[in-house]
Amino acid sequence: MTEIDTEVAVDWAEYRSTRLRHPSRALVPLPERFRDLAGPVFGEQVLDPHDNDLTKHGDGEPLGERIIVQGRLLDENGRPIPDALIEVWQANAGGRYRHDRDQHPAPLDPNFLGGGRVLTDAEGRYRFVTIKPGAYPWGNHENAWRPAHIHFSIFGRQFGERLVTQMYFPGDPLFEYDPIFHAVRDPRAQQLLIAKFDIALTQPEWALAYTWDIVLGPGASSTPPDVD
Ligand SMILES: [Fe+2]
Repeated sequence: MTEIDTEVAVDWAEYRSTRLRHPSRALVPLPERFRDLAGPVFGEQVLDPHDNDLTKHGDGEPLGERIIVQGRLLDENGRPIPDALIEVWQANAGGRYRHDRDQHPAPLDPNFLGGGRVLTDAEGRYRFVTIKPGAYPWGNHENAWRPAHIHFSIFGRQFGERLVTQMYFPGDPLFEYDPIFHAVRDPRAQQLLIAKFDIALTQPEWALAYTWDIVLGPGASSTPPDVD
């Protein structure tokens, strides 16, 4: 079996805006010692207890399908990465971001702001409670809609453990039309971006649940970055 190719196309004609902003010269590889340079460390004091519960940031319950998103942050050898800062941002259930530039005709939800963060625990685990985001149109091509996704930003312990990417939901019919998803060229690497529905993690009468493990590092099983 050939190795999974987690390379991401940065000049990707199907994703139009990459033409305007992709690097036009060969990338300069950082010296190996930079990879291991200690990154910024975030202590518990910068987080509020509800920062990882995106349903608790308004005065009431947000609209939509409540979900738990949980997983582990691992290095390429499968070892947990503790004390890493994971930040997420996403559209609401109607597919709308709380952002001036998002003016498409879907409602904002006063009880959903769309951002959260958490530190991984000693076993590299993270957990968010949120609302399943809706698909949204983005104008890249004729009737272009993004598959439902949650943006993830990860600060590991070292500069080599920085990752910005997107998590997707299984079985989304929009995958085949989405050039951002397909900027990850290898179908096996695309699978690394899709969470798994996890019935054991669901909570009766309260929430559905997904698990998604994130692997940092240059290895073949590492989670691909976002071309966005
Ligand atoms: Fe998005």
